[in-house]
Amino acid sequence: MRKIIIDCDPGHDDAFAIMTASAHRDKLDTLAVTTVGGNQVLDKVTANAQKILSYIKEDMPLAVGQATPLIKPIHTGEDAHGESGMDGPNFHEYNYKISSTNAVKYMHDLISASEEKVTIVAIGPLTNIALLLRTFPEVKDKIEEICLMGGGVDRGNRTPTAEFNIYVDPEAAKIVFNSGVEIVMAGLDVTEAAMMMDDEIELLKNKGKASRLTWELLQFYSKASKRFGFEGSALHDLCTIVYLLRPDLFKGVKYHVDIETYGELTRGMTVGDKRPVPDKTPNTLVLTEVQRVEFIKFFVESLEILDERLKQ
Ligand code: RIB
Ligand code: CA
Repeated sequence: MRKIIIDCDPGHDDAFAIMTASAHRDKLDTLAVTTVGGNQVLDKVTANAQKILSYIKEDMPLAVGQATPLIKPIHTGEDAHGESGMDGPNFHEYNYKISSTNAVKYMHDLISASEEKVTIVAIGPLTNIALLLRTFPEVKDKIEEICLMGGGVDRGNRTPTAEFNIYVDPEAAKIVFNSGVEIVMAGLDVTEAAMMMDDEIELLKNKGKASRLTWELLQFYSKASKRFGFEGSALHDLCTIVYLLRPDLFKGVKYHVDIETYGELTRGMTVGDKRPVPDKTPNTLVLTEVQRVEFIKFFVESLEILDERLKQ
């Protein structure tokens, strides 16, 4: 069983990642969900984490992290995720305990106490992770890898060169990518290939509670992908969890990746050194391909597992 911590900014696709991790809690032991300002301000993304965890009747510990990036003000993503950060469904009643208001210390304590190494799944801006690695460098030896949704070796989405999670806190991303901890990067190169098509989404509508919730979330979230010119709906963050459970569905290449933090046009760019003889040792497995049909099938089956659980 792999021990993981999910650091997130729910976020429709963060919700898909959390739900899928919950569905496979026999393979992934989620020690905590931690929140970071990103898609929306911290209070809203934390409330969204509570809504999701309450809805799927989970008991994963929830800790609140950093509200703002290390240096610059926060840049939120309401154009894709709406005013609440997870527009679409009506989450009626929800009540979910917050275990800590200091996610960085909470992550440190969990990782230090774990007998096995812990995998960090980072699916929002990397502020919490950078602070963890800088404040408690000794935990690096207890981190299996950091599997993150972020970046794109040949394109961005927030700007032509920068993907949102990296763009919001490039200084934090630079710390993480230069930390020496193994990185698996599910960037736009692969997440934009793992789209869910309208006919596949529609099949979720009249199934169980988890499938139906996903359908409601995608009614809103798929509009962003369409506005950005895509045929289907992005599920970005979900790629991290599916990679951990089904690495056979993906292909990747190891590059040295670093982060541009100054450029007028390139701030937040993930720069992969693809040269035959790079300057520095590769530090990142960049996921480059995914078997989309199998990926979607696995997601749908994961939701069906939750559907069954929520019938009880
Ligand atoms: O660029 C996609 C990323 O930005 C995802 O993590 C999504 O949730 C948003 O945070
Ligand atoms: Ca996210």
